[in-house]
Amino acid sequence: DTFTAPQYSTSDATSFAHTSARSRWPIIITQGIDDVHRSLHGTKDEAKISEGKGIVAELARLKYELQHDRELTPIPDDGERDVEAYNKELAARGPAKWHSVPWLYSECYLYRRIASIFKQTKHWRSYDVFARQKISTFKSSRPAVVELAGRYQNIVTALQQKKTARGTETQEQREAAEKLLFTEMCEICLWGNATDLSLLTNLSYEDIQKLQGSEARKASEKNILVNDLDNAFSVLTAAQEEGKKERRVDIVLDNAGFELFVDLILAGYLLASGLATTVVFHPKSIPWFVSDVLPADFGALLSALADPQTFYSALSEDEKQLGKEAVPLSDTETADLQFLFQDWSTLHAEGQMMLRPNDFWTAGGSYWRLPKTEPELFEDLRESELVIFKGDLNYRKLVADAAWQPTTPFTTAIGPMGPGSGLRVLALRTCKADVVVGLPEGVDEKLKAGGGDEGADSGARKWAWSGKWAVVQFSDGKA
Ligand code: F6P
Ligand code: MG
Repeated sequence: DTFTAPQYSTSDATSFAHTSARSRWPIIITQGIDDVHRSLHGTKDEAKISEGKGIVAELARLKYELQHDRELTPIPDDGERDVEAYNKELAARGPAKWHSVPWLYSECYLYRRIASIFKQTKHWRSYDVFARQKISTFKSSRPAVVELAGRYQNIVTALQQKKTARGTETQEQREAAEKLLFTEMCEICLWGNATDLSLLTNLSYEDIQKLQGSEARKASEKNILVNDLDNAFSVLTAAQEEGKKERRVDIVLDNAGFELFVDLILAGYLLASGLATTVVFHPKSIPWFVSDVLPADFGALLSALADPQTFYSALSEDEKQLGKEAVPLSDTETADLQFLFQDWSTLHAEGQMMLRPNDFWTAGGSYWRLPKTEPELFEDLRESELVIFKGDLNYRKLVADAAWQPTTPFTTAIGPMGPGSGLRVLALRTCKADVVVGLPEGVDEKLKAGGGDEGADSGARKWAWSGKWAVVQFSDGKA
């Protein structure tokens, strides 16, 4: 990649990379070890048990290397085509140690290393070491899920009725109402990213309410530092007015559970409103940054919705130990959730919602490389009216995780994905890492000074680490 700014490194004492490598990652590996132990308890298959013990030992070794600042070693050949690219890059970088290595590459490498441990086995090849965590957080966002399900059903039904019976409102009023609904749906989808597993615990009921209704949405709007949703809306309505038959929106997914749920809400809304005719989802191919969506998470979400009563009445081991009791869903709640299942599985079956995996999304580099290293995927994305990138890591990859001046235009920071690419990019990102671009002059300084943390003195951008602030940025891809 060619950048004009250096990339964040785990040696950079003021960045979130520093504490990530030293505190967060060892904890993530430990949680992985715990998870495998639990699965070991549940199996009687000797061969599987013996392999499982080997996995635990390998994970412990990785943790040791990380904590003792050893060199990153080549990823063993586990039969997948992406190993070579990871190792070539590692070799090209020269000897790299865990505590002084570019953040983006090393964090991707970490998850690829973990995946290779499982991929080299027979019984654990497709095991998802983070699946338990993902499903249990989804369960704990039940109030939000139930509320949004009810709201979704109302919206979709109203949109269907509108198609047949035009109201008395003027064209202008109608457009304003459509834009407002679009904005609201996108912002629900945006804030769904604030709940990823590596950072936040469960949403409180108040947090959940913040995600809903126009009053509440207005309140959280002040935390969106740049909001280009109007541009995205214009692109989609222009294509619609042009009478284009096939109008695709792509969503490069981030997290499973609640975030995937709101991604589906947005997708279903885009289809029901006619702003898109198909939605293509891009999941990850290996367990990734703890909470990211794998194709199996998609299926797990749909089957939870197909039989929500069973899903919510099954208690986890932890819940049982705490003496918790399942509270049954009301009939309306069950019906609302099953409506989602019906609607989404029909859209999926009819090809209006599609899942399109590609191992590029779990490569070690930034998206600056996409046009060159993955020309087919790039061409495919160019056919889309709008490519939505969800979440923090996708944003870091778009802007190459480099220490840009925060006022650098978004279109500059995304390099080859920007002007002249022919790609219409929309990033929906809650900030959980240092990099941020496209801010108006003075905003970063103000947040650094006003955050009540020591960030201002150290030069650290701590305000950008917690998911409290967000940016919604657009690039139209024109030369
Ligand atoms: O900043 C912490 C972190 O784990 C980063 O490593 C990563 O970019 C991000 O959070 C993951 O968040 P998201 O799920 O929004 O991509
Ligand atoms: Mg994620």
